[in-house]
Amino acid sequence: MGWMTWNYFADNIHEKDIREMANAMVTSGMVEAGYNYIFIDDGWQGGRDSRNNIIADPKKFPSGIKALADYLHRNGMKLGIYSDAAQLTCAGYTASLGFEEQDAKTFASWDIDYLKYDYCHAPLDSVTSVARYTKMGNALRKSGREIVFGVCEWGQRKPWHWAAQAGGQLWRTTYDIRDKWKNLSSEGNAEGVLDILDVNATLHDYAGPGRWNDADMLVVGLYGKPGPSGDMGGVGMNDTEYQSQMSLWSIMASPLIATNDLRNMNEATKRILLNKEVIAVNQDALGKQAERKVHDGTWDVLVKPLANGDVAVAILNRSEKTKNYKMDWEKLGLSGSFEVRDLWEHKTTGKGKSWKGQVRAHETKILRLKKSE
Ligand code: GLA
Repeated sequence: MGWMTWNYFADNIHEKDIREMANAMVTSGMVEAGYNYIFIDDGWQGGRDSRNNIIADPKKFPSGIKALADYLHRNGMKLGIYSDAAQLTCAGYTASLGFEEQDAKTFASWDIDYLKYDYCHAPLDSVTSVARYTKMGNALRKSGREIVFGVCEWGQRKPWHWAAQAGGQLWRTTYDIRDKWKNLSSEGNAEGVLDILDVNATLHDYAGPGRWNDADMLVVGLYGKPGPSGDMGGVGMNDTEYQSQMSLWSIMASPLIATNDLRNMNEATKRILLNKEVIAVNQDALGKQAERKVHDGTWDVLVKPLANGDVAVAILNRSEKTKNYKMDWEKLGLSGSFEVRDLWEHKTTGKGKSWKGQVRAHETKILRLKKSE
């Protein structure tokens, strides 16, 4: 869990802004709720020095990356950084191909905790991509520091089959998220919440502790802000839809990576990002990704078993109208009677062998079921 620079700042990053965001991450309660990584995305690089060591842009990071890492560590946070398995990154900055070991050692010397490794400007075939990720995975392992490895080739070569072997702990499953509910074919390789859901939900078998399907950043609170997530039809969503993204990403055990302005969050954004009962479903120790048990055009129902024997259930109304729904737990393979807690209402709403309720257009209910007999 954490906060990533990309969709708020794009590559216009500066250590001062990142420190401000880190401070806001503490004062807003985000760190306490579990969001403890700050991820620097693309745009930090300033080329290589005379010994080919990768360096940060001195205008953007006048105190250096190590000083930022120290600052975050002192304040209970961790630092992620970004590179790419080619000569240049997606935004055209210096990347790591041919310098994997040297860059991994540099990152370790800066006390970096996480590397997002992208795949722009690299050959499309799987063999090359597996080899390039394995090379960086091994380099990180030998770097002398534990650095989490995030594979980011957008699901194009089915990384759920090979990225863990290459050293990855998580892998993006789709192209970049935009701030929208659903992509139109005219909008290109852009992904809305439903598009990502429909890919990611089919991959539950591949997730588990230390190996996660990464459904990309939470666009909660961006409201169509111009920038990467505002491109390609990213006109913004309403709070019901943002709440759905939080519910769905949580039940799918995706990393929760905010990217909005933490310094200025409205009440709705705070309520969504800081819902501890929903976060507990995401972070549950059993580490299961929910299985989608219903997918009929109108309703999606996802079911996630939890470590203490409870079961989380998400009910999404994909239609454009408020509708009533009834679900017999038996139909989800859950026999017996359950006490049901609505994790958005923060209250127990009933007990029995089924659930009945009204779900608004694009709303996702997230319920926690406790066996009651
Ligand atoms: C790719 C990634 C994004 C972001 C940008 C940075 O598009 O998928 O998440 O890192 O590159 O340039």
